[in-house]
Amino acid sequence: MATILITGANRGIGFAMARQAAARGDTIIATARDPGKAGALADLATETGRITIRALDVTDEASVAALAAQTGEAIDLLVLNAGLLNSYGGLTDPNHSAEAWRDVLMTNVAGPFLVARDLLAHVERSAGRKIAIVSSVMGSNERASGNAYPYRASKAAAVNVARNLATELKPRGIAVGAYHPGWVRTDMGGNGADISVEESAEGLLARFDALSMKTTGVFEDYRGDGIPF
Ligand SMILES: NC(=O)c1ccc[n+]([C@@H]2O[C@H](COP(=O)([O-])OP(=O)(O)OC[C@H]3O[C@@H](n4cnc5c(N)ncnc54)[C@H](OP(=O)(O)O)[C@@H]3O)[C@@H](O)[C@H]2O)c1
Repeated sequence: MATILITGANRGIGFAMARQAAARGDTIIATARDPGKAGALADLATETGRITIRALDVTDEASVAALAAQTGEAIDLLVLNAGLLNSYGGLTDPNHSAEAWRDVLMTNVAGPFLVARDLLAHVERSAGRKIAIVSSVMGSNERASGNAYPYRASKAAAVNVARNLATELKPRGIAVGAYHPGWVRTDMGGNGADISVEESAEGLLARFDALSMKTTGVFEDYRGDGIPF
């Protein structure tokens, strides 16, 4: 059984992945920005006995460094799931402020980079040696539909980070993939989205299981369909 660290595990897809991975017998380090408000995750930790909750803000270097220092375990699979979508419209959408750009780029691009950097030693000394970045099909340059500029750009950059990590870490035997979780009914995806968190999490965990040094650098969805980039 694996040890899996999942960022942004207090709600949404991250929470569902933590629940399913714990149910199959994995050990989970589940991060939340504010563990004091992560009631459902705390209940799940009590129920399963397989989840340790840690505080993490992926945009804060001190917080990332503290997580690395607190984590003694080797990490077989690092799931960089925490993400932010804060503006949706076309070019003139007033919500595309400089602050919105900063927040989304720090969360969706710098966040996975900083956590991968500081937890790399934990991944390297594990048997699993995998890093998964949850990106989005909205980051695909082939599917640029002219809206949600900061988010789309951030998710394209997240795939770029994954591809560069895959190249740099290949000689060290660490596999890295980027994933689209589907359009999922969460706070971010909304009630009208296509699939449940359970379906997305089940698919993603299966894709992470399938990730190997042969497939490192992959960008695919929760069903295993490759995404043109
Ligand atoms: N839902 C979809 O349809 C969809 C589609 C494509 C891609 N995705 C991607 O899938 C991932 C999960 O999405 P979701 O739908 O589950 O979103 P969600 O329900 O909005 O949950 C987002 C999670 O990320 C955490 N987070 C946000 N900013 C953070 C930060 N600075 N530091 C640490 N944690 C932070 C949130 O913590 P708080 O509770 O503290 O805010 C929360 O746990 C994201 O990367 C998202 O971009 C989602």
